Amino acid sequence: MDKIAVTGGVPLTGRIPVSGSKNACLPLMTAALLTDQTLTLTNVPDLADIGTLSTLLRSLGATTEHDAAGGRLDLRVARLSSPLAHYDIVRKMRASVLVLGPMLARDGAGTVSLPGGCAIGARPVDLHLKGLEAMGATLDLRDGYVHATVPRSVNGGRLRGVSYRFPFVSVGATENLLMAATLAKGTTRLVNAAREPEIADLAACLSAMGARIEGAGTSTIEIEGVDALSGAEHAVIADRIEMGSFMIAPAITGGDVVVEGGRLDLVSALAEALDAAGVSVEPVEGGLRVRRGGAGLNPVSLVTEPFPGYATDLQAQMMALMTLADGTSTITEQIFENRFMHVPELTRMGARIDVNGNTATVTGVPSLRGAPVMATDLRASISLILAGLAAQGETVVSRVYHLDRGYERIEQKLRACGARIERIRADD
Ligand code: EPZ
Repeated sequence: MDKIAVTGGVPLTGRIPVSGSKNACLPLMTAALLTDQTLTLTNVPDLADIGTLSTLLRSLGATTEHDAAGGRLDLRVARLSSPLAHYDIVRKMRASVLVLGPMLARDGAGTVSLPGGCAIGARPVDLHLKGLEAMGATLDLRDGYVHATVPRSVNGGRLRGVSYRFPFVSVGATENLLMAATLAKGTTRLVNAAREPEIADLAACLSAMGARIEGAGTSTIEIEGVDALSGAEHAVIADRIEMGSFMIAPAITGGDVVVEGGRLDLVSALAEALDAAGVSVEPVEGGLRVRRGGAGLNPVSLVTEPFPGYATDLQAQMMALMTLADGTSTITEQIFENRFMHVPELTRMGARIDVNGNTATVTGVPSLRGAPVMATDLRASISLILAGLAAQGETVVSRVYHLDRGYERIEQKLRACGARIERIRADD
């Protein structure tokens, strides 16, 4: 397994480009199941998860053409050859469950492995399943798989539009039901739907394919089912989590960086937190300029919430920054039940963090010291890289396959701003 070595102490300066959003691209790819024509996605990030989902879609009957360097992905599912999403793929990437709604909408049948838990929590898919049942699907859970069908007694095997209220906000469940509803018979109303920008991006692509959707991006989405969808070409929205992660890099190193493609509307909660910390975030031509001069960092407390609140995917990164603040911050994680695995690793670098339930109390220290640390999940990994950029000495992050799932060319992007960062290949 590769490692990444970072030698800290260099204030980053220059420009960092933001890639297309992983969390938008994955559902967009599953939308290809809804039509027998070609869906072309551009601004596609070159990430491990994209490859994993392409493999899964091919196993379901898709043909794919991927120009990874050019960020273009053509997907065509002329017909579903095998509606089974195998455990071996699903266990590696939970977003695989997003093929279920489209398969049911397209063919009235689909089998998906239950994803199993992951490092940050149990992450069940009960909201996905309950919503699809409300739309007329019959689910048979056995051998770790969900065998879903739409009985012929339901509109001759076609999902029905429903009014469905989510008991709490779920990004994936909103995406699954949104896609299923595009081909259902009748109108679907999703209440307490997720408002993440990736939902609006998915809806924009589905509308380009011929879907009839109102309210995406708000907590109530209305979809009028149509008989068929066509192909389309769609550019994937910028990755707001990568954007936010790179905004914290100049903040933690005391540098001055333009995050190219940065959009304040996608990272407003983070921008507010950085402003409170004493970091300047300024919209400039082509992106966001983030800088911190010689001044210290103010402590900032936050609670993670669904969009537009502070993103759980940016919690670990802010915690890394707050380890160097002049004072005490509290960070409360409300979305996942176990998303503090970066804490023991940051502690190895000299951070002072006390965890009590879902709240971490961070007491700022004057400096961090480089150390060997281990990545445990995607966003914890980047928080360790960020801490390493500021620490004295060398930090070696192991298990960086977690990082490669969500950050494209991370070393090149940071090195271009002066970071001393190298990948140590496993067979080196
Ligand atoms: C999406 O995951 C993202 N992944 C996650 O990003 C992100 O952290 C999360 O949304 C929250 O913003 C993708 O988009 C591929 P949820 P998702 O359904 O859809 C519980 C990253 O780092 N829940 O909004 O799985 C769930 O356990 C990843 O890029 C149920 O209980 O998140 C969690 O506690 C990590 N039952 C909460 O709801 C369900 O049926 C929110 O989950 C579904 C979810």
